[in-house]
Amino acid sequence: MKSYGCQMNVYDSARMGDLLRLSGDVETQDQTEADILILNTCHIRERATEKLFSELGRVRDIKAARAARGRDTQLVVAGCVAQAEGPEIIARQSAVDLVVGPQAYHQLPSLLSKGASGVIAIDLAAQAKFEALPLPRRDDVARRGVSAFVTVQEGCDKFCSFCVVPYTRGVEISRPVADVTAEVENLVSAGVKEVTLIGQNVNAYRGEGPNGGRWSLGRLIARLSEMPQLHRLRYTTSHPRDMDDELIEAHCDEPKLMPYLHLPVQSGSDRVLAAMNRRHTARDYLRIIEKVRQVRPDIAISSDFIVGFPGETSADFKATLTLVREVGFAAAFSFKYSARPGTPSAERADQIADDVKTERLAKLQELLEDQRQAFNRACLGRTLEVLFDKPGRYQDQLAGRSPYLQAVHVPSGDARIGEVRCVRIEAVGSNSLSGRLVDASVMA
Ligand code: SAH
Ligand code: SF4
Ligand code: F3S
Repeated sequence: MKSYGCQMNVYDSARMGDLLRLSGDVETQDQTEADILILNTCHIRERATEKLFSELGRVRDIKAARAARGRDTQLVVAGCVAQAEGPEIIARQSAVDLVVGPQAYHQLPSLLSKGASGVIAIDLAAQAKFEALPLPRRDDVARRGVSAFVTVQEGCDKFCSFCVVPYTRGVEISRPVADVTAEVENLVSAGVKEVTLIGQNVNAYRGEGPNGGRWSLGRLIARLSEMPQLHRLRYTTSHPRDMDDELIEAHCDEPKLMPYLHLPVQSGSDRVLAAMNRRHTARDYLRIIEKVRQVRPDIAISSDFIVGFPGETSADFKATLTLVREVGFAAAFSFKYSARPGTPSAERADQIADDVKTERLAKLQELLEDQRQAFNRACLGRTLEVLFDKPGRYQDQLAGRSPYLQAVHVPSGDARIGEVRCVRIEAVGSNSLSGRLVDASVMA
């Protein structure tokens, strides 16, 4: 199984793995040995989709070589390209046996056992999927390691004019509080220490509470924080429109909620934001950041940006740079606008030339990179709590994450994977921090 795209695909791949293991399959690292090959795909930008078709060409050759040895291979395309391009995938690459969308993958074991060939399963009912997915076995959950994702909300009703997600993931749904709690308890009992709650609009979460009524994300976070063995909580991705006071307050009231907020803004120009159908202004965004920083001054802010949206002028682009300077981001993802078939902005006549996009992206990325480095440098000499999640690059090293999601390396000493320990930061590299354990006390 190979996963592309966002964290929700990582989560979905883990759940597909659980399902297949429940029906007796085992994982192999050797592609030529696999009876089932699954590509879990992303449709967000043109290049993501191209990647799939070049990978499919490679995988077709593996399938053919196995056939020559008398071995069958079931080739599955899952994820958002499956949803968006179902029949075209099989038309373009006949080696594909099964196309299964993000809301239909619970059907995978039964479709595979029937020896599906040329089958397309792309129903769009996320609720039905979650109801059908069994709780994974403890051993399977233990594979998640120290940090795991849990989908709490899926789909999107926002329809930003550039975006395919509402078409590939369907309408917005929230999982009931009891389901989420059961899944997190299961993870924690298998050794998971950090859970990231995920959703395309995770802060639009309105899950059914145990006694009826709807719970907000802030309230869900408070409930999950009560689990003693769970050390850390995070959430992503949020939309500025849904950033309510309860969630902002949680950054003050809930010590397990990490001081990190990924809040995509896309552009700093109100004209472009309106054309994007984002339904917030640059000012709205800055106000939210101000509020969040009032309750949690050290919070790391990250964002997503699109440059070269149709009609974007150099003044619009400058407004984005201005907003970036005003906020000061700890991290960011930025992309050239990619016209996606079926989305309203792809139809516009005023598309921006690629060389202009390239130039703007380089400028924006330079500024964002400076800010990231500055944020990291400001950690020099500080003592940060680090959750260790894997062995380090070198022997006798451990690697983990700071509260601000920075990678941190230390000489391991008596620390173990899964522990949160205090680390004094002594050096700042371009992609990670390093330091040493400050004392023998185990924080959590
Ligand atoms: N739900 C999240 C983001 C989902 S997609 C939100 O509302 O912010 C992740 C990121 O991909 C987006 O934030 C956007 O920056 C980028 N993206 C989405 N569609 C794109 C497109 N057509 N071209 C370029 N970037 C795009
Ligand atoms: Fe896409 Fe906008 Fe929905 Fe985010 S909020 S998933 S960018 S449509
Ligand atoms: Fe890609 Fe689908 Fe995620 S389009 S970004 S895998 S929701």
